[in-house]
Amino acid sequence: MPVRIGTIGVGIFGINHLRAFRQMEYAGKSELVCCAAATETRLKQRAEEFGIRGYTDYREMLSKEKLDAVSICTPDHLHRQMALDAFAAGLHVLVEKPLDTSVEGCLEIIEAGRKAGKFLQVDFHKRYDPYHQEAARLARLGEFGRLQYGYVHMEDKLEVPRDWFPGWAAQSSPAWFLGVHFYDLVRWIMRSNAVQVYATGKKGKLTSMGIDTCDSIQAKFEFENGVSVSFDTSWILPDAFEAVVNQTLRLVGTEGILEVDSQYRGARISSSAGGTRTLNMGYLRETVDPYGRTIYLGYGVESIANFVENLLYLEKGVSLEALEGLYPGGLDGLEATRMASAVHESIEKGVIVPIRR
Ligand SMILES: NC(=O)c1ccc[n+]([C@@H]2O[C@H](COP(=O)([O-])OP(=O)(O)OC[C@H]3O[C@@H](n4cnc5c(N)ncnc54)[C@H](O)[C@@H]3O)[C@@H](O)[C@H]2O)c1
Repeated sequence: MPVRIGTIGVGIFGINHLRAFRQMEYAGKSELVCCAAATETRLKQRAEEFGIRGYTDYREMLSKEKLDAVSICTPDHLHRQMALDAFAAGLHVLVEKPLDTSVEGCLEIIEAGRKAGKFLQVDFHKRYDPYHQEAARLARLGEFGRLQYGYVHMEDKLEVPRDWFPGWAAQSSPAWFLGVHFYDLVRWIMRSNAVQVYATGKKGKLTSMGIDTCDSIQAKFEFENGVSVSFDTSWILPDAFEAVVNQTLRLVGTEGILEVDSQYRGARISSSAGGTRTLNMGYLRETVDPYGRTIYLGYGVESIANFVENLLYLEKGVSLEALEGLYPGGLDGLEATRMASAVHESIEKGVIVPIRR
C-alpha cells in the first residue's frame, strides 16, 4: 500500500518534500494527499501545482485527512509542537533538520514517537551525498588510520537569512540552520559523539538589517574518539558568491587525509544572464523520466524519499530495531541539537561547555 502523506510547511525547502513524495507516487510507493502552510498565497500556489488539498491550519489537516505520515518543513523553532501533534494523530513523522532547537524538545518528540509506536526520521541529507558516503566507508575501513583532527565550513549567502526567511532567521542561527548538517555528518562518519565545545559568535551584519542573530559561529568540538573538529558556519557571504552554499569537509588521520569540497565539484558556468555560478548536481537536478514526467534526482530529495522507503520496509514486518542506525533518527536529531545548544551556551558564557547526556 502506498504511504499516504501530507507536508506541513511548503516554503522554499518544502517544495522538495512535495517533489519527493510526488515522484514516489509514480512508482506506487506514496500518495501525496495534502499540505499545510501559514501563508495563504504560497499554500494556494503549492496546492494547485501539485493538485492536492491545502490547509492553513495544520491541526485541521491532521484531523480531517486519512494519512499514514507527515513531513514537517516549517521554521526551525516550530517543529516540536507539530511533531507532537502528528504523533498524537497516530502518524509517522519526518522532520526537517534541526529536530528541535532545544534538547528537552527533542526528548519530548522522541518519547512521543516511542509511546505512539510510530517512526521518526530527521532530514539530515548530508548522509545521502555519495561523496560523504564514500568518506564514511573509507574512514570506517581505517583508510586514514586513526583520525586526529578535522575541519568543516558551511557558509550561506546573505540572501538566505535576508531574503528567504527574514521573518524567522532571528530564531535560528548559523549553528541551527547550517551547523547541525555537519555536526550530524561528522559524528555519523566517525560513529562518535561530541563531548565538549568551545565556540565564539559574531554579530553585526544581520543585526544592522534588523535580524538579531549571529552572522558567523566558529566551534571547536572534541569527540569521544579523541578527534577535534572545527566547524566554521556563517550566512553572510556576498550576493556575488558563486553558489548559495560554500561547504567543505576535511578529516586528517595517522595514515591519510580526506577532503571533500561539496561546493565546487568541478563544474562552473558563467553567463550574461546568471553571472558565474557552480553546479552541485549531486544535490538536486531536474530531469525527465522515460514517460516525460519531470523528476528530481540527488541527495536533496533522496533523503526525503528514504523516509517513505523505510515506512514501506517497516510495513513488510521489519522491526524498528532492525532499522536502527541505518537512517538519521530521533537520537541523531537529539545529538545534533545537543551540539548546537552547547555551541550557543559556549558563545554566551565564553567557556568550554561539556555536552551533557
Ligand atoms: N535540508 C536542507 O538542506 C534544508 C534547506 C533549507 C531549509 N531547511 C529546513 O526546512 C525548514 C523550512 O525552511 P524553509 O527555508 O523552507 O522556510 P520557509 O520560511 O521558506 O517555509 C516555512 C514554511 O512553514 C510554514 N509555516 C510557518 N508556520 C506555520 C504554521 N504555524 N503552520 C503551518 N505552516 C507553517 C510557512 O507558511 C512556510 O510554508 C527549516 O527547518 C529549515 O532549517 C532544510
